Amino acid sequence: MRTPVIAGNWKMYKTIAEAVDFVAKIKPVAEKATYCQVVVAPPFTALAAAAQAAKGSKVAVSAQDVHWDKEGAHTGDVAPGMLLEAGCTHVIIGHSERRADHGETDVLVNRKLKAALAAGLTPIVCVGEILADREAGKTEEVLERQFSGGFAGLTPSDFSRIIIAYEPVWAIGTGRTATPEMAADSQRFIRDLARRQFGGYEADALRILYGGSVKPENIAGLMAQEEIDGALVGGASLKVDSFSAIINYLRA
Ligand code: PGA
Repeated sequence: MRTPVIAGNWKMYKTIAEAVDFVAKIKPVAEKATYCQVVVAPPFTALAAAAQAAKGSKVAVSAQDVHWDKEGAHTGDVAPGMLLEAGCTHVIIGHSERRADHGETDVLVNRKLKAALAAGLTPIVCVGEILADREAGKTEEVLERQFSGGFAGLTPSDFSRIIIAYEPVWAIGTGRTATPEMAADSQRFIRDLARRQFGGYEADALRILYGGSVKPENIAGLMAQEEIDGALVGGASLKVDSFSAIINYLRA
């Protein structure tokens, strides 16, 4: 009932030429994977070229961040309309690396989210606890805070256009994956928050991706969980072979 999403977050990797080459190679793989949506998130500089290369295919292109204003004196930032013009349909918001490197708060996540929705982009909003929170038994508290702050003031209809990525920070780029059961527990908790704040229909339809050291070797186990509706993949999305294997999780 919920169409899974396999999204590759390229972070600060790949030149324009590399991005175009990758998209050309992943297009036929995405075409055959009729059971899921495929998204790639190149750095800003490669967005337009990647979107051009993906045109008419099943590969959607996402930005990794967005500013909340339509335009203005914001050095280094990129507006929602600019992403649309470049050919993006999706945008990642609130990734833990943005939260850590750039001090992004839930208030900023909320502003970006509203701007992205207003522009017609599909936001992929990241939430997740750091190791100290998990060890202190505070995972749910953190998720609840990120959820209520990040999604404040949205209508159920706004919310129905959002994809959430649950990414335990301790599992990102560390090779330490949450077990499928751990991920599913947190994701069930997030879905319950969605049910309370927005309603049963919206909660049931919400896609929640798992992110954090997703690899060809662990994708099948993760996707076997009813609660996990796809993956946000960092490192393993940089190589055509490993990203293809993840897209082909049904055959893993
Ligand atoms: P990783 O990154 O797959 O390299 O752990 C995931 C992410 O940061 O989205």
